[in-house]
Amino acid sequence: MIKTKITEMFGVDYPIICGAMYWLCVPQLCAAVSNAGGLGNLTAANYPTENEFRNAIRETRKLTDRPFMVNVTILPSVHVGPEHHKMYLRVCAEEKVAGLEISGSPIDKACGMESIDMLKKAGVKLFHKVGAVRHALHAQQVGYDGIYAAGIEEGGHPLNDDVTTMVLTPRMVESLNIPVVTVGGIANGKTMAAALMLGAEGVMMASRFMATKECPVHDNIRNELVRRQENDTALICKSINLQGRALKNKVVKDILAVEAGGGGLDKIIPLMAGDRCKRAWAEGDVDVAPMMVGQSIGLIHDVVTCKELLKRMADEAEEQIAKVSAKFKK
Ligand SMILES: Cc1cc2nc3c(=O)[nH]c(=O)nc-3n(C[C@H](O)[C@H](O)[C@H](O)COP(=O)(O)O)c2cc1C
Repeated sequence: MIKTKITEMFGVDYPIICGAMYWLCVPQLCAAVSNAGGLGNLTAANYPTENEFRNAIRETRKLTDRPFMVNVTILPSVHVGPEHHKMYLRVCAEEKVAGLEISGSPIDKACGMESIDMLKKAGVKLFHKVGAVRHALHAQQVGYDGIYAAGIEEGGHPLNDDVTTMVLTPRMVESLNIPVVTVGGIANGKTMAAALMLGAEGVMMASRFMATKECPVHDNIRNELVRRQENDTALICKSINLQGRALKNKVVKDILAVEAGGGGLDKIIPLMAGDRCKRAWAEGDVDVAPMMVGQSIGLIHDVVTCKELLKRMADEAEEQIAKVSAKFKK
C-alpha cells in the first residue's frame, strides 16, 4: 500500500485523483473512481441549478460511502457569473464534501475571502489547479490545502506559460509547503512513479478515466483514445487567450484554420459550442466537437474498469520504483 499526504488527508487507498470533465464527471464515474480506492470527481458545471447540483452530490453518496472531489471551474462565462460560483461553493460547504478542485480564478478573487473561511469551517479541503508557481503561491497564501500542478501536456485548458509537467512538479515542490499533485501526462504506473519521484504526493488524470468502462461515453470514443497516439493532440484557441488541448480531428483543424486566418471569437464559438461535445460523447462521432484530451492518450492501450486501472497503476508504480532502486544497489 502506498502512503502519501494525499492518502492520509482523505483516507483513500491510492493517491490517484480524477480531474474535472465537463459532461462526463457525473455520479456514475465519480463513485466508480472512489469505490476503486481513488478520489472521484463531480464537475459542478454539469448541474446548472442549485437543486440539480445538490441532488448530484447526494446521488453520488448513494453510490459510494468514500470521499470524492467536486470541481468548480471559475472562468469568465456569458452564462455563469460570481453568484453562481458562490452558490456552488455554499452547497459544497453545506454538504460537507471532502475536497474542492478549483480551476481558473482563485476563490478569494472570484468570490471573496469569506467563501474560503466558510469552506474551511465546513472541513472542505481546498485544491487549486494551476500551471504556474506564482499562482500556486497565491493559493497557498490564502489558505488552500494543496495544489494540482498542471503541465502543458494536460487535456482541457493548460496555462499559456506552456511549462511541462517534468519541470512544473519539482518547481512547485521546492516552492511550496502544501502537498503538490501532478496533473498532465499521467496515465499508468510508470508516469505515476515518475511524479512521486519528482516530489508529488499524488497524481490527477482525466483522459485515462475516459477509457474506462464506467465513463459515460460511446464506445467509439473509448476506442478512438486507445487507437490514437501522443502526437494526436493540438493546442487550440491560443489566439483568443483560452488555450485548450484537444484531439486532432476535423473540427480542431477548422478551428486552427480560423485562428490562422485571423478569425476571432465570433467565428470560433460556433465550432466550440458545448452541445457539440455532448453529441460527440453520446453518439460517438469523433469529428463533431473539439474533444479535450491530453498527450497522455499515447499511454492508453485498453479499456478497463476503474478498479482494474487503479490497482494496476499502483502495482506498476511500486514495481517501477523497486526496479530503479535496484539499479543503485551493488
Ligand atoms: C473531456 C475533458 C473535459 C475536461 N473538463 C474540464 C473542466 O470542466 N474543468 C477543468 O478544470 N478541467 C477540465 N478538464 C481538464 C482535466 O480536469 C485535467 O486537468 C486534465 O485533463 C489532465 O490531463 P490528462 O487528461 O492528460 O490526464 C477536462 C479534461 C478532459 C479530458
